[in-house]
Amino acid sequence: MDMLEQLHNRVSTPANLLVEPAPDDAQIEEIVRAGLAAPDHAKLRPWKFIVIRGDARQALGELFTSATAKREPDMDPEKLEKQRSKPLRSPLIIAVAATITPEHPKTPEVEQILSAGSALQLMQLAATAMGFGSIWLTGPNASDNSIKAALGIAAQDELVGFLYLGTAKVTKETPERANVADHLEYWQGPV
Ligand SMILES: Cc1cc2nc3c(=O)[nH]c(=O)nc-3n(C[C@H](O)[C@H](O)[C@H](O)COP(=O)(O)O)c2cc1C
Repeated sequence: MDMLEQLHNRVSTPANLLVEPAPDDAQIEEIVRAGLAAPDHAKLRPWKFIVIRGDARQALGELFTSATAKREPDMDPEKLEKQRSKPLRSPLIIAVAATITPEHPKTPEVEQILSAGSALQLMQLAATAMGFGSIWLTGPNASDNSIKAALGIAAQDELVGFLYLGTAKVTKETPERANVADHLEYWQGPV
């Protein structure tokens, strides 16, 4: 498949359909190198990539459970228990954070967060090109300061997402996309 075709046909794989083999150390480096090619205003390199695999996924599940219980003390215990197994759905997770330089004269925080989001998307595309499946997930845990702290992410930084990775057990069909005409405009001047 050529690159454009891959971009047009990219699909995420649900985390529970991602299995071994996951990217190995050398492949993780290739994926992260793609992230390092993200657009970056003023060369701030506002990125941190945190690999979570093996038993560390269990530790993350414990964190998800305790943090969720704190945020939602009345949550149904069965629902809460699901938090524990969330990171175990896939063999590899890379957490991607935007490391924020506050009040930068050229680069507002939103641009730094966008750069980290672009890095995550480039990593997802690199993983696709290498034959791996992936999905970008967040949820309330991604903005929970206790989880960020445990991952070594400062409170002022932004955890832009968890990239779940592995081999896709089932490849999803490319879904019907939005219509170009519904989203594309050619500006002729003030409206
Ligand atoms: C910033 C961001 C956060 C996301 N968080 C979640 C999430 O927590 N749960 C979820 O089911 N999908 C989430 N998604 C959507 C999936 O990554 C994915 O795009 C979606 O399942 C549609 O599949 P597709 O990428 O194959 O079109 C998120 C996407 C983005 C860009």
